[in-house]
Amino acid sequence: MEVLKAIESRSSTRGYTAEKLTEEEQNILITAGLQAPTATNRQELHITVVPGDAPELKELDEALGRGVCFYYGAPTVLILSGEEAFSWTPVDAGIAVENIALAAEALGLGSVILGCVKGLMRGPEKEKWNRRFRIPEGYAFEIAIAVGHKATEKAPHSYSAEKQVTYL
Ligand SMILES: Cc1cc2nc3c(=O)[nH]c(=O)nc-3n(C[C@H](O)[C@H](O)[C@H](O)COP(=O)(O)O)c2cc1C
Repeated sequence: MEVLKAIESRSSTRGYTAEKLTEEEQNILITAGLQAPTATNRQELHITVVPGDAPELKELDEALGRGVCFYYGAPTVLILSGEEAFSWTPVDAGIAVENIALAAEALGLGSVILGCVKGLMRGPEKEKWNRRFRIPEGYAFEIAIAVGHKATEKAPHSYSAEKQVTYL
């Protein structure tokens, strides 16, 4: 039931306080990512834990040039990369990142999944960004997630079961 509650109440947080995560909170998030299932149990994902004030993130944010911080000032960003040659990597990364989002929700923390840097991270300067974020050889950026204490609140999104579900 706890899991169902977290699924129901989770929403994207796009504003954070300066409070850092504790080591215990960080470990819980990482563990939630690593405990996610992977196709054939390949465990082909890698997590780079990046503090919000890391120069590497600032550089990425500037290269993205959105005008607003792409990770909304969160104290921690987890970057998930995975084996490029494995066809299930994107699915596995999606499962892992949602595990992390739900773990954050269970800890009373906010999170937002971040795909907006994918074009940059996999673009012509991919090797440079891979070095910056210590992404292993043969791996590529899949998805990222910002986590921290909520400074803003947003209701969970609405949806239409009528449009999105078919019963045979
Ligand atoms: C694959 C993926 C990529 C996303 N990338 C971004 C992003 O780059 N920036 C952002 O603010 N939100 C991003 N989001 C969050 C979605 O916009 C958000 O989940 C959606 O609007 C539904 O809102 P909710 O999370 O509050 O339910 C992403 C979500 C997913 C699943």
